[in-house]
This record gives sequence, structure tokens and C-alpha cells, in this order.
Amino acid sequence: MTTTKNDAEMRELAGKRALVTGGSRGIGAAIVRQLLDAGAEVLTTARSKTSTVPEGAAFVEADVRTRAGVQAVARAAQEVLGGVDILVDNAGGARPFQNVWAIPDEEWQDQLDLNYLASVRLDALLTPGMRERRSGVVVHVSTAAVPTSAPPFLHYTAAKAALLNYSRGLALELAPFGVRVNAVSPGRTATPGGEATREQWASLGEGPGQDNTAPPLGRDGRPDDIANAVLFLVSDRASWLTGRNITVDGGEFPVG
Ligand SMILES: NC(=O)c1ccc[n+]([C@@H]2O[C@H](COP(=O)([O-])OP(=O)(O)OC[C@H]3O[C@@H](n4cnc5c(N)ncnc54)[C@H](OP(=O)(O)O)[C@@H]3O)[C@@H](O)[C@H]2O)c1
Repeated sequence: MTTTKNDAEMRELAGKRALVTGGSRGIGAAIVRQLLDAGAEVLTTARSKTSTVPEGAAFVEADVRTRAGVQAVARAAQEVLGGVDILVDNAGGARPFQNVWAIPDEEWQDQLDLNYLASVRLDALLTPGMRERRSGVVVHVSTAAVPTSAPPFLHYTAAKAALLNYSRGLALELAPFGVRVNAVSPGRTATPGGEATREQWASLGEGPGQDNTAPPLGRDGRPDDIANAVLFLVSDRASWLTGRNITVDGGEFPVG
């Protein structure tokens, strides 16, 4: 069946302009695909364009760990979309180390830049427009592993914990302007980045937090499991929801 313009106009996010960081694969690509299916216009980013960037999305190449990279993304959002109604700060990732003393100083900085400051910087450039228009939604992608503080990933979980703390504060700042801010914290999800990280972790040998038993729901997450929660949060169905963190992990983590 072909999709007519009227079908597109009737979709839930028709007319919305969305920016998703890290949409070239994994969870980000699933979010981009679902946003497109819901009728949004989507711009996504990564350090390089790949064949797995969903068709129909505009793309800008940038490294969001740097201020210049974040500025390039915000500029592209203005040029391509003319503004942003939906911002999903998703780009991120982890690199495990044997223990806390093995994490080099530059890795702590790198993880803060990627998993925390990239969102702070991008939000700082794009949420003033939402505040002025008195409408908009932001979703931060953190991790269900924050409460575990597992030593191989302490630099990662600490940065993602900061992201959750900041997300709540930004929500309170923006609530009077009708702009909602929430977080989604994925559990173990089958993505290229997730699999690579778990292989690196396994190669370090037995250590704290190593547990390969499936979550209570019996399987690892799929990118669409996480994208479903993001799509709910950016839609009007979540219009009375702000400052919250939804953990999507098949029931694995005790807190969340
Ligand atoms: N998969 C899991 O099990 C899991 C669990 C908890 C939380 N998460 C979180 O979910 C989010 C998505 O993870 P994923 O598993 O989908 O990872 P992924 O498969 O590695 O995809 C990450 C995406 O982010 C982009 N990216 C990475 N570093 C970047 C940088 N410096 N600048 C710009 N873009 C960058 C990647 O493209 P390039 O590399 O080409 O730049 C890619 O598009 C991350 O925030 C991650 O921490 C994942």
C-alpha cells in the first residue's frame, strides 16, 4: 500500500522536527526510524555516515565530544530543520577497564564529554528556542547500570549518573515554559556498540558485575524496545510527564 500525503499528515508526529544524536546504528537508528514512521522530519548525527543511517533522515557528520562538533550539529539543525521540537540526546558508549585505577585520566574526561557534556552543550544551544516557543521535548539516553557503579565502567556510569541528575534539573527549569525533559535508561541491548563493549569486558576476565544470565523477561533488549519508550515520551501521550527516568531493561536492575 502506498502512503499518501494525507496519511503522513495524520501521523502522530506529523509537522514535528526532530534531532537525534548517534542515529547511525543501534538504539539511535531505531529511534530515528520510529520518528520517521510517526511522521516527524528527522536530522541525525554521528562521526561518520554509514549505510545503516535510516533512509529518509537528514544527516550531519560531527563528533559531539567537542564544543565545535556540538555547534556544527546545532547549526545543521537550524539550516535543515529550521528549529527543533524533539531533541533526543542518544550518542554515547562505554569502554571497560580492569578496575578503577586502570581508567586513565583522559578516559574520565572522554566519558564526561561523550556521555554527559555533549547533552548539556547541545541542550544549551537548542532549548532556548523551545522555551521561546513554549513547546518542545528532550529525552536523554542514560543507562540502567547507573545504580550498579560497576568498577569496569565507573567513568561511564558516573557520567550517565550526572546526566540523570542534570536531566531532572533541566526539566524543572523548563516546566514553566511547557517544555518536557525526561530520560530513558536502557538495560543490556543488542546493538553494535553494546556487543563490542561486552566483548571487551569479557576479555578482561572474571570481574565484578560480570553476569551473563538473561534479564527476568528472558532476553536482551532490542533497539526498538528502547525506541518505543522514547517515542512514548516525545508524544503527547506523555504530556503530564517530565523530570523522570524510565528504565527499560527486561526487569534486570533492582533500582529504577
Ligand atoms: N546497548 C546497550 O546495551 C546500552 C545499554 C545502556 C545504555 N546504552 C546507551 O544507549 C545509547 C546508544 O547506544 P548503542 O548501544 O546504540 O551504541 P552504538 O551501537 O555504539 O551506537 C552509538 C551511536 O552514537 C554515535 N557516536 C558515538 N560516539 C560519538 C561521538 N563522539 N560523536 C558523535 N556520535 C557518536 C555512533 O556513531 P559513530 O561511532 O560513527 O560516531 C552511533 O551512531 C548510548 O548513549 C549508550 O550509552 C546502551
